[in-house]
Amino acid sequence: MAFSLDDLTCPLVAAPMAGGVSTPSLVAAVARAGAIGFLAGGYLSASQVRDDIAAVRSLGASAFGVNLFWPPGRPADLSAAQAYRTLLAPEAERRGVILPQPHDDDDAIEAKLGVVAEEAVPVVSFTFGVPGADVVGRLHRAGCRVWATVTSASEAVIAGRSGVDLLIVQGPDAGGHRATFDPDLAPPTQDLGALVEAVRAVSDLPIVVTGGLTTPEQVGRWRGQVAGVQVGTALLDAEEAGTSPTYRRALRDPEFTSTELTRAFSGRYARGLRNGFMTAFGDQAPAAYPAVHQLTAPLRRAASTQDDPEGMSLWAGTSWTAAPTGPAARILAGLMR
Ligand SMILES: Cc1cc2nc3c(=O)[nH]c(=O)nc-3n(C[C@H](O)[C@H](O)[C@H](O)COP(=O)(O)O)c2cc1C
Repeated sequence: MAFSLDDLTCPLVAAPMAGGVSTPSLVAAVARAGAIGFLAGGYLSASQVRDDIAAVRSLGASAFGVNLFWPPGRPADLSAAQAYRTLLAPEAERRGVILPQPHDDDDAIEAKLGVVAEEAVPVVSFTFGVPGADVVGRLHRAGCRVWATVTSASEAVIAGRSGVDLLIVQGPDAGGHRATFDPDLAPPTQDLGALVEAVRAVSDLPIVVTGGLTTPEQVGRWRGQVAGVQVGTALLDAEEAGTSPTYRRALRDPEFTSTELTRAFSGRYARGLRNGFMTAFGDQAPAAYPAVHQLTAPLRRAASTQDDPEGMSLWAGTSWTAAPTGPAARILAGLMR
């Protein structure tokens, strides 16, 4: 039977968090708590996605989703990425890493679509864009529900035309990447309330809201108003999350006083704790996703190994200081108080 949010005992959605945060054990713990969690399929190979799906199922979860990045409609600007590579060279030397050559990359989307369809994953969500009606239809026929993340009313219209079942409306306070379809656009700054109204004016699809909702009060404001509430930052310090110890410490460190949107790490705007890398390179990073992501990957890995939060992408929403700690089930129950 097709997945429905109405079947959940807890109408919360654990956001997909790429980079190792959304582990199968987090997704399974969220399902046990009566909510739905997402594996983050972005950046992974198709076989890694298949293994993670198997791991979630082996932990007893049946209601879960997989998030995929819909590839950009045009190749990244590789000459701009080359110039950024030159700018990063001293940082690479300091960290003892060799920067790769930037290249085009479609994130193995076709192979991953094959996996989620074959596995009849209950929900497939898309970020950075939506596929056409042909792909959405193929997923529907495989038994998947299809959700799309949008950051504006015009994106909601595009997603609606593709035949998706639900819109995840992402506001400007969200941690991690803004889902904005056009990588050249600065992401909209309209607050979540105004954005939901604008989306409702153009679409009848059910809505899950997300972005900056980390306390029971912030979640409670939306209960009964929308189909569900998606939280990311609220689960960053959950026991089952794959968040590294350095990242967890940074979330509690009073030295970090703000979040900011930056293209410095991936070439697409994302919100994280403002740190040294962002300050040094934020103004100079080109809109060249995923080439910039490829370039900074070894730098971020080295910083993490060196236990240095100043060189890592510390994605977090604006309400990060309220992020609870403990088992995921307790965090979700706390948000529903
Ligand atoms: C560490 C981290 C990684 C994220 N990775 C993804 C991702 O892979 N795919 C996606 O659609 N959204 C991703 N997001 C964004 C979330 O889906 C969601 O929009 C955001 O977490 C909501 O804001 P909040 O963090 O304030 O709750 C990520 C967010 C964080 C904090």
